[in-house]
Amino acid sequence: MWHPCRSDVLCVALLVGTAAAAFVPSGPLTPVVFVPGKGGNQLEAKLDKLNTVNDCAKRSGWFRIWLDLWSVLVGEECIAENLLLHYNETTRKSSNYPGVTTRVPGWGTTKTMEYLDPSWTAWLLGNMGAYAVHLVEGLLKWGYQREKTIVGAPYDFRYAPHSQDDYYGRVRALIENTYIANEDTRIVLIAHSMGGLFMHRFLRQQTDAWKNKYIEAFVTLNTPWSGAVVVAHIYSSGMNWGLRAIDPLVLRTMHRTHETASLLFPTGDAWGADDVIVETSERNYSMSNLDEYFMDINFTRGLEFLENVRDAKENLQHPGVDTYCLYGSGIPTPEMLVYGEGEFPDMQPETKMGDGDGTVNLRSLRYCRRWHDGHNSKTVFYSEELPNTGHHRILDHKRILDVMQMIFERRLHK
Ligand SMILES: *[C@@H]1O[C@H](CO)[C@@H](O)[C@H](O)[C@H]1NC(C)=O
Ligand SMILES: *[C@@H]1O[C@H](CO)[C@@H](O)[C@H](O)[C@H]1NC(C)=O
Ligand SMILES: *[C@@H]1O[C@H](CO)[C@@H](O)[C@H](O)[C@H]1NC(C)=O
Repeated sequence: MWHPCRSDVLCVALLVGTAAAAFVPSGPLTPVVFVPGKGGNQLEAKLDKLNTVNDCAKRSGWFRIWLDLWSVLVGEECIAENLLLHYNETTRKSSNYPGVTTRVPGWGTTKTMEYLDPSWTAWLLGNMGAYAVHLVEGLLKWGYQREKTIVGAPYDFRYAPHSQDDYYGRVRALIENTYIANEDTRIVLIAHSMGGLFMHRFLRQQTDAWKNKYIEAFVTLNTPWSGAVVVAHIYSSGMNWGLRAIDPLVLRTMHRTHETASLLFPTGDAWGADDVIVETSERNYSMSNLDEYFMDINFTRGLEFLENVRDAKENLQHPGVDTYCLYGSGIPTPEMLVYGEGEFPDMQPETKMGDGDGTVNLRSLRYCRRWHDGHNSKTVFYSEELPNTGHHRILDHKRILDVMQMIFERRLHK
């Protein structure tokens, strides 16, 4: 989940170390396909003044709706209104509201993920629009080239994997074409945050023969394997990440319609039936009474949404390719929400902190460690906890390049 990381001052650190830059791979580079997390690529929208159901159709032509930091900072609530999804109970499918058309720019490139907001405004605000730029630049120093050896697979991050058949088909073709364009060299899939869940599901759908032919390794960075408590906050009361100009309840309305919010809701894999997630004066909520939780926050459809994504998030097995699971820890992360009398659900809770990457709880990030056992001995499983590494900051971490070097050396010795 993207949010303006105000506490990080510049949001980014030039951590791409000189040691890593000194490594110069010989032979063809291992091509990289990068898959971002929720909110980790740009989206564009076009509004039809005559058909739109809301009052937000003041702009004409295609424009960048995600991310436009200026609009966010001045409290422009039209973003939330235009990114709402409408749910059809018969087909169980979501779609844009009438009058709103959206598209994902930049298929095959990382450019629309390096900066989510490439404007001068964002740059002047302390480079707040930056996302994957340092990861990409670290690889460029090794001789990688955009759109040749490092390609991007952006998506409409409002839709969960069960609604992404078209995307998955295009990812498959992108991987095959990147392999061919690089002298039949197998690719490394690098996925941040929710992108890891998306690609886990993708790999599960491919045959062993296909994975063997095209995939060198799967690298996941801060993937919320078992969800995050912060989503319960978003579902209950909405969150504006301290941007006072924006009403959290407006964002709550939007996020409740996004299929991917339910993909990131905590699961019973990491939370015990009685681990309290939300505490109120009347009742405590945990995995054992989610039906009451969704009723009490007036969002009974939430249960159905959870059902729709169950297959993509629960009881995940080793993905069947060499897998490197990197995750941060040591940053205070919401672990439990506490509401005083009469505050639930519309007022902001007090947040009790636990360990994690600041967004995702450690118990969810480290879920992948269970793949140390029980996977086929022909595949590698490597995991590493990176102390004091935030949810987004991991994209700047030099260990990513070290892992790329490990993968590269392993490939040479095969
Ligand atoms: C839901 O989808 C069905 C089948 O496409 C359609 O007939 C129906 O009108 C839709 N309902 C709403 C409320 O959009
Ligand atoms: C909720 O859980 C807390 C401990 O986390 C406990 O002290 C409290 O009595 C519980 N409240 C209710 C209403 O069950
Ligand atoms: C519950 O949600 C519906 C729309 O989903 C809304 O019309 C209604 O006012 C809400 N009720 C309360 C008590 O918030």
